[in-house]
Amino acid sequence: MAPMSARITGWGRYAPERVLTNADLEKLVDTSDEWIRSRTGIRERRVAAPHETTATLAAVAGKRAIAVAGLEPDDVDLILVGTLTPDYWMPSTAALVKEAIGNTRAAAFDVMAACSGFVYAYATADAFIRAGTYRNVLVIGAELLTRFLDFSDRNTCILFGDGAGAVVVSASDEEGGGMAGMEMTTDPDGAYMIWLPSGGSKSPPSSETIRRGEHYVRMEGKETYRYATKTLATSALKAIERAGWDPGEVDLFIPHQANIRIIESVAKGLGLPMDKMFVNVDRYGNTSAASVGIALAEAVDSGRVQLGDKIVFVAFGAGFTSGAAAVTWTADPLHGKRADSVVPTASVRAPVDWDSVDPMPARLMAVLAERDGVQVPLDDVVPGEPEPAHREVLA
Ligand code: ACO
Repeated sequence: MAPMSARITGWGRYAPERVLTNADLEKLVDTSDEWIRSRTGIRERRVAAPHETTATLAAVAGKRAIAVAGLEPDDVDLILVGTLTPDYWMPSTAALVKEAIGNTRAAAFDVMAACSGFVYAYATADAFIRAGTYRNVLVIGAELLTRFLDFSDRNTCILFGDGAGAVVVSASDEEGGGMAGMEMTTDPDGAYMIWLPSGGSKSPPSSETIRRGEHYVRMEGKETYRYATKTLATSALKAIERAGWDPGEVDLFIPHQANIRIIESVAKGLGLPMDKMFVNVDRYGNTSAASVGIALAEAVDSGRVQLGDKIVFVAFGAGFTSGAAAVTWTADPLHGKRADSVVPTASVRAPVDWDSVDPMPARLMAVLAERDGVQVPLDDVVPGEPEPAHREVLA
């Protein structure tokens, strides 16, 4: 039987301990801390350790969300992982996560919508629950982008970081709450504005594709920026309109954390002050599909979201895709404490007769090795005030 509503009951995040600062990047490419901060708002980002993979990051965030929801792993009926950096092309990362969290009964699949992956997966979960097909869906956005970056390309390597964010969406027999309106768009005009050329059927991997560096993310920054500022505002407005709300009624926006200037421009476009926008891009960089999930979990755990609040998730990404969801928050933020009991590690079973090569880019390892010990445990990350973009850059 179809439930009365589909509500977010659990949330969780995970980011690797190792921090890559702008000063580290100065040693790798011709850039500066000042340039990166003023053009993007990013101060630092996280880099996964060699033993971590997208599935292990996802599993920790997922276990935390399940604990916060007050559920056991086997209560989950469906696992969705939004990612553009899967462990393998097959099996799905969601299948690996299922085993890693100790679930024996869920269906599991990945959602490929680049940075919009978390919002698309959340919309999918909502639809399955409202149709009465499933009662508890685990939605995860997880990325390990540092393994797909060319650390000699200053246009891309300064932007991205690793991490995972998750929610549990559950059927409720109470009316109201959960997703009140949503919007998803895909505009293939932008297909080659941000893309990863080789490794797929159009250009299978070979020594030639590797020589050309086609296994790394490529991006037309300016075009992507233009699209993002336009689409984030219009997608958010559509979702808000479908919810029957006014933009001024929204308590908090959780936008995709790509660039502080993009977030500021969305706030301006919607005629809202920046304190309505949750920002943590300064500490994580762009974690693609993980970004909205990480930001949401951090917003709730830091007291920025209260019972009954109207919040809006909004993201854009390669494709070009965009997605927005207007959500009425119904979970007790104090339940976030339940995640403390979850050990922040996960292991994914390795194949029997195959040993992967060292996954870390050599240039990145060399820089990180220069300053051992600069690792920040996740729980020491205190959400701080984001730095505003420099006015002269915005003008
Ligand atoms: N350090 C120093 N200088 C740099 C760097 C760098 N890291 N990168 C570029 N520059 C230089 C450029 O070469 C250029 O120099 P020139 O004027 O001599 O030619 C100058 O800085 C200005 O470059 P712009 O590209 O005009 O800089 P802009 O202000 O547009 O900022 C940025 C670039 C940050 C990439 C911006 O365009 C942006 O944020 N775009 C959106 C990116 C994004 O969000 N991507 C994620 C997509 S989502 C997904 O699905 C993964």
